[in-house]
Amino acid sequence: MIPMARPMIGDEECAAVVAAMRSGQLAQGRAVAAFEEQFAAITQVPYAIATSSGTTALHLALLTHGIGPGDEVITTAFSFIASANCALYVGATPVFADIDLATLNIDPQDIERKITERTRAIVAVHLYGNPAALDRITDICRQHDLVLIEDACQAHAATFQGQTVGSFGTGCFSFYPTKNVTSGEGGIITTADPEIDRLARLGRSHGMPQRYLHETLGYNFRMTDLHASIGSTQLNHLEAWTARRVRNANVLRELLGDLPIAFQAVLPGARHVYHQFTIRIPRGRDQVAEFLKAHGVGCEIYYPLPIHQQPLYRRMGYDVSLPATEQAAREVLSIPVHPSLSDEDLFIVARTVREALAHVEATTLLPS
Ligand SMILES: Cc1ncc(COP(=O)(O)O)c(C=O)c1O
Repeated sequence: MIPMARPMIGDEECAAVVAAMRSGQLAQGRAVAAFEEQFAAITQVPYAIATSSGTTALHLALLTHGIGPGDEVITTAFSFIASANCALYVGATPVFADIDLATLNIDPQDIERKITERTRAIVAVHLYGNPAALDRITDICRQHDLVLIEDACQAHAATFQGQTVGSFGTGCFSFYPTKNVTSGEGGIITTADPEIDRLARLGRSHGMPQRYLHETLGYNFRMTDLHASIGSTQLNHLEAWTARRVRNANVLRELLGDLPIAFQAVLPGARHVYHQFTIRIPRGRDQVAEFLKAHGVGCEIYYPLPIHQQPLYRRMGYDVSLPATEQAAREVLSIPVHPSLSDEDLFIVARTVREALAHVEATTLLPS
């Protein structure tokens, strides 16, 4: 089976963990500080605050901006659930804007339609590693005095007009095992604002500026040095692995270019880092997925049920119509693009997609 993801953990990571264990500092010590410094440099921001996950990074980002009950947070329903749940964690209300079906990212026009006097923030997701329309979204934030949170959990080292994502607003990244780089579990917040840095550092560790002095209501969202040491080792490879993902995506686009499928559009000046390579198949997506799996090619549907239609949100009374989001959920399919694929793997993936589409076409044309 050609898998969808393969965490690349080698001797370097193993040695780094052992060194961290022997350092005498197991949580939020020197390895965490080094990881933060390294990530701040990559993202070209003055401050980076490591957390226990991408989810806690998002939660903490909203908290540090003072978002809470009575506030509305506009986001996309075509994402992992944490992109919206972070608003719920702080007692705010997620409001869903539809996506642009071409980029699969939040549609700035629909953001504008969803703004009310209660809107405080936009959580813009760079889905699958593809930068959202940051030029238009930052304009909207400026005009309406809104906080921009970038959910860059899938978009390490992606850029927009030469600037790294996570540096346009308050950035949140994940280091979950399947991400472009991993720390096992982990997250990080990036910011240019010293006050957000201060509040995030307080919030992730029980509001303590010094031991047993609690200035704010905080949490235990700390990263361990074991995780940070894995993360630091991985960051040394980020650029090479990203270049390989981009190259693999270009090969797949070339090999699949003549088929009746849609590729994810990339905005001018954006660098997509291909956390996922996702196509849209207008007819027979589920049969194509079954065929691929039966023929040894991993594939996944991210995401089969949009957030506004999840049981949790239905129970809360969400009954909004998001036509592009719903269409994307019916049509998307992600296929392998990770850096450890060989050229032969890529050819097999492309050939099997071609065969799957032909098979589905032939079987749907048969009289029932
Ligand atoms: C878009 C998006 N947001 C948030 C998260 C949450 O990150 P984590 O799994 O590290 O909590 C993820 C990760 O799965 C994600 O893909």
